[in-house]
Amino acid sequence: MPSRLSAYVSDTAPGRGALRTARSWLHSDAPRRSLNGLWRFRLSPTASTAEDFAAEDFDDGGWDGIPVPSHWVLQGDGAYGRPIYTNVQFPFPIDPPHVPDENPTGDYRRHFDVPADWSDAERVVLRFDGVESLFTLWVNGDEIGGAAGSRLAHEFDVTSSLRPGDNVVAVRVHQWSAASYVEDQDQWWLPGIFRDVTLIARPAGGIEDVWLRTGFDGGRGRIETEVTADAAAFPVTLRLPELGIERVWATAADVAPLDVDGVEPWSAERPRLYDVTVSTSAESITLRAGFRTVEIRGDRFLVNGRRVVFHGMNRHETHPERGRVFDEEHAREDLARMKRFNVNAIRTSHYPPHPRLLDLADELGFWVVLECDLETHGFDKLGWAGNPSDDPAWREAYLDRIRRTVERDKNHPSIVIWSLGNEAGTGGNLAAMSAWVHARDPGRPVHYEGDHAGEYTDVYSRMYSSVLETEEIGTDGSRAPLLNCTPAQGARQRTKPFLLCEYAHAMGNGPGALDQYEALVHEHPRLHGGFVWEWRDHGILATTPDGRPYYAYGGDFGEVVHDGNFVMDGMLLSDDVPTPSLHEYKAVAAPVRFAFDGDEVAITNLRHSADTSDLRFRWHVEHDGTPVDSGDLQVPVVAAGESAQVALPRIPVSPDSETWLTVDAVLAAQTAWAPDGHVIATVQLDRSAPRPAPAVRREPHWRRSDGTLTLGIAEFVDGSLVRLAGRAVAGPRLELFRAPTDNDEGASQEVEESDASIAGVSNAELWRRDGLDRLTTRRLSVDRAASALRTIAKVSAANSALSVIVESVWSLEGDELELRVEIEPSKGWPTVWPRIGIRFDLPDGAAPVDGAEWFGLGPLESYPDSLRAARTGRFSSTIGDLSVDYARPQETGHRSRLRQLTLTSAGTEVLRIVTLPDTRGRRPGFTLSRHTPQQIARAGHPFQLPDSTTSHLIVDAAQHGLGSRACGPDVWPEFALRPEARTIRLRIAAG
Ligand code: GAL
Repeated sequence: MPSRLSAYVSDTAPGRGALRTARSWLHSDAPRRSLNGLWRFRLSPTASTAEDFAAEDFDDGGWDGIPVPSHWVLQGDGAYGRPIYTNVQFPFPIDPPHVPDENPTGDYRRHFDVPADWSDAERVVLRFDGVESLFTLWVNGDEIGGAAGSRLAHEFDVTSSLRPGDNVVAVRVHQWSAASYVEDQDQWWLPGIFRDVTLIARPAGGIEDVWLRTGFDGGRGRIETEVTADAAAFPVTLRLPELGIERVWATAADVAPLDVDGVEPWSAERPRLYDVTVSTSAESITLRAGFRTVEIRGDRFLVNGRRVVFHGMNRHETHPERGRVFDEEHAREDLARMKRFNVNAIRTSHYPPHPRLLDLADELGFWVVLECDLETHGFDKLGWAGNPSDDPAWREAYLDRIRRTVERDKNHPSIVIWSLGNEAGTGGNLAAMSAWVHARDPGRPVHYEGDHAGEYTDVYSRMYSSVLETEEIGTDGSRAPLLNCTPAQGARQRTKPFLLCEYAHAMGNGPGALDQYEALVHEHPRLHGGFVWEWRDHGILATTPDGRPYYAYGGDFGEVVHDGNFVMDGMLLSDDVPTPSLHEYKAVAAPVRFAFDGDEVAITNLRHSADTSDLRFRWHVEHDGTPVDSGDLQVPVVAAGESAQVALPRIPVSPDSETWLTVDAVLAAQTAWAPDGHVIATVQLDRSAPRPAPAVRREPHWRRSDGTLTLGIAEFVDGSLVRLAGRAVAGPRLELFRAPTDNDEGASQEVEESDASIAGVSNAELWRRDGLDRLTTRRLSVDRAASALRTIAKVSAANSALSVIVESVWSLEGDELELRVEIEPSKGWPTVWPRIGIRFDLPDGAAPVDGAEWFGLGPLESYPDSLRAARTGRFSSTIGDLSVDYARPQETGHRSRLRQLTLTSAGTEVLRIVTLPDTRGRRPGFTLSRHTPQQIARAGHPFQLPDSTTSHLIVDAAQHGLGSRACGPDVWPEFALRPEARTIRLRIAAG
């Protein structure tokens, strides 16, 4: 092993050479040059290749070109290795601080020009905004230094090595280093120079750093300015032109706080920014100041004196083609999308994002928890033995990381909390980081979830605590022990504001129970909301050998160790498509609430501080989903935290269809993130006149029968349905299986008193054990009456004595065909069931069923614990759009509470189905898909689903909830489907 590498990997201190101290990422008028662009590149499999490439005159003519910024594993179609995905696991031996000799090492070179007029500059600095994981820098053959800290900025003084005109920079980047042990976040390992490289001229008399610490109190703003500049740089002038402010400070000693009257405060809802310049005669810095005061009072987290509720997302920097390379346009659209879905907060999991992201957060309005680049989760496997977090040898490296984090982003009003990192155990180095933050920035609290006992952090934070446990945390009276806390530590934690830094694991189809978590926030003011895990899937765009694109996850690149699709756990699919869970989130997090009371509705404004002057309230009435009337509600402006009682319009009630009133709160004018009319919140009121379901007609004269039979549009052979309205049909057959969701496959210990689940064993495993995916049928009887047919069958699986009796009665009721199915489980079924449904298979034929129109809940899929985004109405969809393209195929597409369904083929009606409620008023849901649950369960990626033109219609009396057991609690007992007898009644007609 060459000496440099051994020095690097055993040296846990962060940087060497001419590395400069951290400072703000400033918008300055000092000259700068981007060194982004095409560099020459060579990849070596080990770190031991000779360093001769750093020489000025080295001939790199045979090297490839690579774009900077980029990750080399995402360039060159695999020529430079492949991405690796692990969650907790280290993809190298746990041998800290050493890494293997097999250490992919990228050498970069490029020429650049230093303009002649830069000779005035006092210094020239080369800045790297992000390099994974450790690098060494040479300029014109001089070794300048090196640094680690992948998602942190590093600046080097290169003045003495530069000359006007042509220069050469060489950089060696190692994929693995000692730093990898403290950068073990759950994400792809993506080496390379992946953020900007900039050459910056520092003028004599310039401003090294500036910090505007702003506050807001009682209608007054305050700016405390910290200027870092040589004495000779003074006078320094601060200007805030919009308020006519100009202050000139002759010397550093004159710099004084400023009280500013007549300012509007900054909040995530009204992100009011003021342009400020801080200048010397040599340099001018432009900042955008937002006035806000962050404060903890008792167990409340307040901004500008008002409690904040985080409706947050954990945001990683990830893109299917660029990886962690920042694209401002995409990021802006992403943040605008968050705003459109009622997201008001971001945790920058688990490292500082590209610095521009914070400018966008200031401007669009988010409460930001800014997290340091630190995670040592892989030490968990060793019971945290050797964890750097409690090893003094790593103290300086930890401090360097938090300094770089805070210093770079300290000017942003959107940042309201600093987070020390994620899942790094606990220990003295974390306490040291916290102490440093407290001393440097008393204006913002410190967060770190791993400080369970609350020894050095200001807020109490947890991830994935269940609804019950979260409620316990919010409740004063309870003495329930808190995780990893003695009673005294627990009592201390209860004196602090609480937030869920992660909850609602959004992997695949789910999560359920968003509304239950939300309800707690409004009952227990100590609970300040939380951050969904996570905003988007991290799929990497790849192609199958036969050229079909797909989003790859762990294992798709032949990794030695990996964590499969655990990286696909976002509310947004890899291609930016919001999943139904994001719509559910939007409905649950809506900042305006409605409560109907007779002929009035109470409208409550749940915002932090903004009133409702930006909103309009529209209403419309539908009869069986057909619009009949609409208008605007006259609503006074409602202040934050207040309610208004408003009279409802006169609602025309239909005697023979359902009558629904819908009220939408919409934006009255366009904003930076949504057009005028964008819906913020929706509520529905059922004003239907009661209409009894037709009674079940009891048939007294059954007789044994077989042979063929026609009942209206239905044709039977030997008691089995073969055609409906002239089309081939198979079924209905009992379907108890659904393609397991990622939550169904989850085996967490969190089973929420659900007596049917087993801690540590997934429901999917139990379903497979009991054979729900491979049910067989034995016909017990076929009977006929004058205009009816009855079959009784026993359904069970190989090697199981458990069974379900299914009685199906087909009858003509007037000129309508009715199917009534009674589903009766035997005793002894031990688990929850995924569904209780009947499945019709509609094979292709000349005109395959390819779409549906329905009246029921829609437009998107819904499940018992995820119903808040669904509304009652009339919807239509192609068969393809009824399913969500989850990265790993799984249960999808269930539409609840169906009243009427029309199956269509190329726009022509094929079959019409009306559901009748059971005796408890419950209606079935439906799923229409090209694939059976069994086929879906076998596919690891969408491209592995077989080609099909068959349509499978499943009518479900019930579905199991979703839960979030992929990482968190199982389905709440109320929404768990235990085996039970159910009835499905349908009226079926030709289209
Ligand atoms: C948390 C972790 C996240 C992610 C999540 C599961 O423990 O902080 O980074 O791994 O679990 O997806």
